[in-house]
Amino acid sequence: MSDKKIIAVLGATGAQGGGLVKAILEDPNSEFVPRALTRNVNSDKAKKLSDDGAEVVQVDVDDETSLMKAFEGAYGAYCVTFFWEHFSPEKEKQQIASFAKSAKEKGLQHVIWSTLEDTRNWIPLSDERMPTLMDNYKVPHFDGKGESNKYFTEAGVPTTFLLTSFYWDNLIHFGMGPKKGEDGKLSFAIPMGDKKLPGIAAEDIGKCAYGIFKSGDEFIGETIGITGEKLTGQQMAESLSKSLGKEINYAAIPFDVYRGFGFPGSDDLGNMFQFKHDFEEYFCGARSVGLSKKLNPSLQSFDDWLEKNKNKIPVE
Ligand SMILES: NC(=O)c1ccc[n+]([C@@H]2O[C@H](COP(=O)([O-])OP(=O)(O)OC[C@H]3O[C@@H](n4cnc5c(N)ncnc54)[C@H](OP(=O)(O)O)[C@@H]3O)[C@@H](O)[C@H]2O)c1
Repeated sequence: MSDKKIIAVLGATGAQGGGLVKAILEDPNSEFVPRALTRNVNSDKAKKLSDDGAEVVQVDVDDETSLMKAFEGAYGAYCVTFFWEHFSPEKEKQQIASFAKSAKEKGLQHVIWSTLEDTRNWIPLSDERMPTLMDNYKVPHFDGKGESNKYFTEAGVPTTFLLTSFYWDNLIHFGMGPKKGEDGKLSFAIPMGDKKLPGIAAEDIGKCAYGIFKSGDEFIGETIGITGEKLTGQQMAESLSKSLGKEINYAAIPFDVYRGFGFPGSDDLGNMFQFKHDFEEYFCGARSVGLSKKLNPSLQSFDDWLEKNKNKIPVE
């Protein structure tokens, strides 16, 4: 049996976890071996991970017994929640409490928790610049994660708190690519005014996480913010224009307009962009390109990512 240290990876068939599993498997000299966690060990994606050399184990983050089994014998774990599957910060909080409890009980030596800010520490519920959502939150998909950092701390789990950034892949998968207006012109529309948005290639998150695990206990107890590049909407539109060979204008739409788009979560995302806009200095300052590059030397810039992905971006 291999004496490599097992890293249990939640979301192994998805963006963040998938990037980590790949990063470990692609390193022939790795001291680690990935345990890919999935709800369905028989899916095509799970089978591919198994064929590529990962141990594949069934888990459901709503089932603590399955988490305990999934963490058994592991050295570390990559923990991530899946907000957009259910839109419930309450559910996320329960799941994260289970991650921390299971990690403690199974004696894990290093957990990376993919968290985000509890924006209420900057914008209390009483602050009327943006609406309060679901009675208790400003940015529900951020706040539940940030509030739950305490579960790891209180349980005494050796944890690195990983602050991620906006995936550029949202331009492909999340309907955020350039759109044609009534005038026939293409525009890239995000409510960021002239402020910078830290972004990242989703696959680089897992690669940075691998760098954190490889650093031993250097980042345990630390909060690490990662990004590939921080760009204004205007700069992103210019890169898109160059890369796609089409004129794409930046449309700095108002927050209220974005909140009112009416797709599920548009109010949450409108508040998120406003938080990133209004607290640009903090938000950009908390995410370092230099450290991300140190953790992951192949870190992509937006132009690098575009070069690889330009043909996948739907332009409607
Ligand atoms: N989009 C962004 O710009 C962005 C930026 C920062 C942070 N985030 C955060 O990233 C998180 C999502 O991570 P991701 O993008 O890596 O997810 P993802 O690509 O959507 O992958 C999710 C994976 O998780 C698994 N999964 C779903 N429900 C599960 C459950 N109940 N139990 C166990 N596994 C489950 C699924 O695998 P199986 O079907 O194989 O089980 C799926 O492949 C969200 O919470 C979001 O807030 C997103």
